[in-house]
Amino acid sequence: MRSPLILVPLLVACGHNARTDDPTWHQDIAPLVAENCGSCHTDGGIAPFALDVYAEADLQAPAMLAAIDAGTMPPFLATETEDCAPERPWKDDLRLTDEEIALFAAWVEADRPEGDPETAAELPAVPNLGIASPDVSIPFQQPFTVEGDKDLFQCFVLDPGNTDTMMWADAIQLVPDNKRVDHHGLIFLDVNGDSEALATNGTFPCFNTPSIDGFLMATWVPGALPMRTPDGAAMPIPAGAKIVVQMHYHPAPGGPEVDQSTVDITWSETQPEWAAAQTLVGNYWTQNDDGTGLQPGPNDRGVPEFRIPAGVADHTETMIYEQTIPLPLPVFSVGTHMHYVGTDMTIQLQPGGSEAEQECLVGTPNWDFNWQRTYDFDVPIDELPVIEQGDRLHMTCTFDNTTDNPFVAEALADEGLSAPTDVLLGEETLDEMCLGLFGILIPPALVEQLY
Ligand code: HEC
Repeated sequence: MRSPLILVPLLVACGHNARTDDPTWHQDIAPLVAENCGSCHTDGGIAPFALDVYAEADLQAPAMLAAIDAGTMPPFLATETEDCAPERPWKDDLRLTDEEIALFAAWVEADRPEGDPETAAELPAVPNLGIASPDVSIPFQQPFTVEGDKDLFQCFVLDPGNTDTMMWADAIQLVPDNKRVDHHGLIFLDVNGDSEALATNGTFPCFNTPSIDGFLMATWVPGALPMRTPDGAAMPIPAGAKIVVQMHYHPAPGGPEVDQSTVDITWSETQPEWAAAQTLVGNYWTQNDDGTGLQPGPNDRGVPEFRIPAGVADHTETMIYEQTIPLPLPVFSVGTHMHYVGTDMTIQLQPGGSEAEQECLVGTPNWDFNWQRTYDFDVPIDELPVIEQGDRLHMTCTFDNTTDNPFVAEALADEGLSAPTDVLLGEETLDEMCLGLFGILIPPALVEQLY
């Protein structure tokens, strides 16, 4: 007969056994953190602290769980809502699955056991969010000094180095040098190299997009990934072409800062089946005669106007673009762009202009200016959405121009203003935008029509 005396230690032993089922850092959590957080939270990464060793993760665990639960980490703005549920998966989607979130929560709940380093699970390769080994890295010709108290727009002429033949780029990225002043950058192709005549020491002021033959190749905004073309497509850079980077600088309050950013490129080894290009759509001032352009909306005073009144929390502006090129254009990436007053943006594709048949391409319902990037569809070219002639893009931007919007509160404080003011369409940081960014594909035979 068992005595109660032995029963007690048995129960205790039982409890210990159960605890060995708890997830541990080395066995369960480290691989998950490497894959979903490691690309930024590592020494020298863009995040303010590393999370790749137990001691750091142990310290940050409650904050990590809170950020994961709130959906703010890993940063990924293209989330699904009832109004906008995109049909295709995304590339570079670092979000945790529900099972992974539950596992992480169980680890925190169990007091974050370290586990046995001897039998640690193998770590997956940390995803690289930049271009790992570019074929060329082209810096601005000279360092540029950013000073004063006004936003600055400056163009830089770079030489991609292909003097003889057409080259095809399958990845392009602006690598910002000084994030204290680099606000955004647009990378243009200058087909005939005309920009050189405009520049002194490789640079010239350019508030407006330079009027040279070419097209937009890639954009950089905080949180951006490289422009990467899908398999079977690449971006054409003809012989003799130059690259022009238009930088939008926001001077730092502390005084002059120097910037010398770089453009990284990888070349495709073969001529691709499709030519890739980027295009910006939206930011309309007025409605067009055919009903496209800026749409009538709340708070308009008579005619449709892009004006976000001071103190209004739920203002919308709607833009319609109609595709007029007699060609079906596959879309490989989409992005939304607003400034600080924006809170939500959705882009619907309306086949033949039909609202009933519309498909949501992307929505960013928790817009955060600091985390802009384009979202690439993770499907082969023949499964990409296609915009045909007569199809419409319907873009809705929502704005909160009150101090309940933390970005507005911060921007006002920066400018020394005590209350919101009406916000109009414009280029400056305190103006607003409602702009869609689309990566499209065209047959290479028609590349010249892009210029
Ligand atoms: C694409 C880069 C990137 C990835 C991936 C990423 N982080 Fe971050 N994280 C940042 C940056 C940059 C900051 C600081 C700025 C900020 O707070 O937005 C940050 C801040 C944080 C903070 C501070 C508080 C907060 O919520 O802002 C926590 C906690 C955090 N990250 C946890 C995580 C965890 C956990 C993961 C993975 C599940 C992760 N991060 C993935 C870039 C990243």
